[in-house]
Amino acid sequence: MALNSVTVRVPAKVNLQLSVGPRESDGYHNLVSVFQAVSIYDEVTLTKSHPGSGVTIAVTGDQTHGVPEDDSNLAVKAAKLVGTKFDFDVDVHIEVKKSIPVAGGMAGGSADAAGTLVAMDALYKLEATREELFALGAELGSDVPFMISGGTAVGTGRGDQLTAALSRGTYHWVFALSTVGLSTPSVYAECDRMRAELEVAAPKVSDALMQSLLAGDAQAVGRALHNDLQGPACSLRPALSLVLEVGRDYGALGALVSGSGPTVAFLVADEEAGLDLAVALTASGVVGSVARATGPVHGARVL
Ligand code: C5P
Repeated sequence: MALNSVTVRVPAKVNLQLSVGPRESDGYHNLVSVFQAVSIYDEVTLTKSHPGSGVTIAVTGDQTHGVPEDDSNLAVKAAKLVGTKFDFDVDVHIEVKKSIPVAGGMAGGSADAAGTLVAMDALYKLEATREELFALGAELGSDVPFMISGGTAVGTGRGDQLTAALSRGTYHWVFALSTVGLSTPSVYAECDRMRAELEVAAPKVSDALMQSLLAGDAQAVGRALHNDLQGPACSLRPALSLVLEVGRDYGALGALVSGSGPTVAFLVADEEAGLDLAVALTASGVVGSVARATGPVHGARVL
């Protein structure tokens, strides 16, 4: 029987390392990005619709503010891109149930695009290879290939050229969410502005981080967390520095802005430490809301 509907669950990400090289002539930056997929999920359901109806979308859930429900949504672009590449008319309704913070530095939009690519492959039985899906993903956004792969990986180039990283154990995270997002291009622009007079080196993978992940040593991972976009994000949103401080004061193993922010990620020793920190952050009054998660988890998967 032909499938009419497919649901894919897709995680959020945190960058354990994000090192940003100089701005290139195309406006992008060469990156070293060490990604970990974490257990906050969006669910993307694709349902075939009547011929001629095209691609439509509805966004539901507790994290929908500011998500476009038109052709500018990355999930709609993903469905259309598949139609173009595989040369068929796409008539599909996309429902995105969002839990990943919007414009939060956790790749929510990229996750929905990744989920849509995987769902399109299953719904139309395209049998695309992983490499084909990664290539389509990279056309949509630098983080999309990782949201398909999940786990722990090093991204180079724009962050889209992936190599799996060896990682032992489960890591516990607390995320301090903001009610208002930050635009990724504006954070990169602030990074360029702050470094205008400096010689910027090519980014390199942190050996300390790789060894700590391999050993499953959460304390050492906490010490090795690094994000070049943290300074720029804090410059645009000074309150983030206060949030980082609260986490450090309450014994987080490590604290950093996630990606381009404004979500702040705290690595903690275990679930109990996570609960304590979540309570402290909520009580501090400097945080909009708090989410807890573990990683690494799988990338986009058909349910
Ligand atoms: O690739 P993506 O569309 O997700 O990138 C969003 C924005 O982030 C880009 O428009 C660019 O400003 C910035 N970016 C960058 N260098 C990268 C990745 C993203 O400057 N490697």
